[in-house]
Amino acid sequence: MSEHIRVLLPEEELNERIQTLGREISRDYEGRQVHMICVLKGGSFFMCDLAKRISVPVSLDFMSVSSYGSGTKSGGVVKIVKDLDEPIKDKDVLVVEDIVDSGRTLSYLLEMLMARGPRSLKLCTLLDKPDRRVVDVNVDYTGFQIPDEFVVGFGLDYDQRYRNLPYIGVVEFDQ
Ligand code: IMP
Ligand code: MG
Repeated sequence: MSEHIRVLLPEEELNERIQTLGREISRDYEGRQVHMICVLKGGSFFMCDLAKRISVPVSLDFMSVSSYGSGTKSGGVVKIVKDLDEPIKDKDVLVVEDIVDSGRTLSYLLEMLMARGPRSLKLCTLLDKPDRRVVDVNVDYTGFQIPDEFVVGFGLDYDQRYRNLPYIGVVEFDQ
């Protein structure tokens, strides 16, 4: 089966929204340092662009969890593939995600990070698919709410492909 990509959010729109988010975050964290945690691999493109738009001091760390197999539906299994390099105790932590879908990955991750005693813990996601929520997650900053469609680009993949697209698109399968 072959597929093609329909553009949902063009590059320009993403850049503008990320700039606005960066301003909002800079204002909210005035006088503090933001410790951004990127959830690999999907969150990496968003995190880099967002970090460049933040004017308060920023430090970065990365972690990798897996909740998906190679298909387009959640398996519901969450596994830590790579843990953080630095402790987060007493830090103002901002988790940066590509997308909140069922919410399973994030609710697990946030609970685990909370147990490590950060001073604050917030969540910023580029995309949110509210229709798909199974587990409640409190999202502090959202780039875009999108309909229940499988999207790729700007870090998001389909079987590890399309992460490098500079826009967000919907995968459409040709009959
Ligand atoms: P959740 O645990 O169901 O919220 O899944 C979150 C993770 O699933 C995201 O971080 C993505 O890696 C992946 N995911 C969910 N929806 C999509 C999508 O539309 N395209 C690509 N990856 C997705
Ligand atoms: Mg992700």
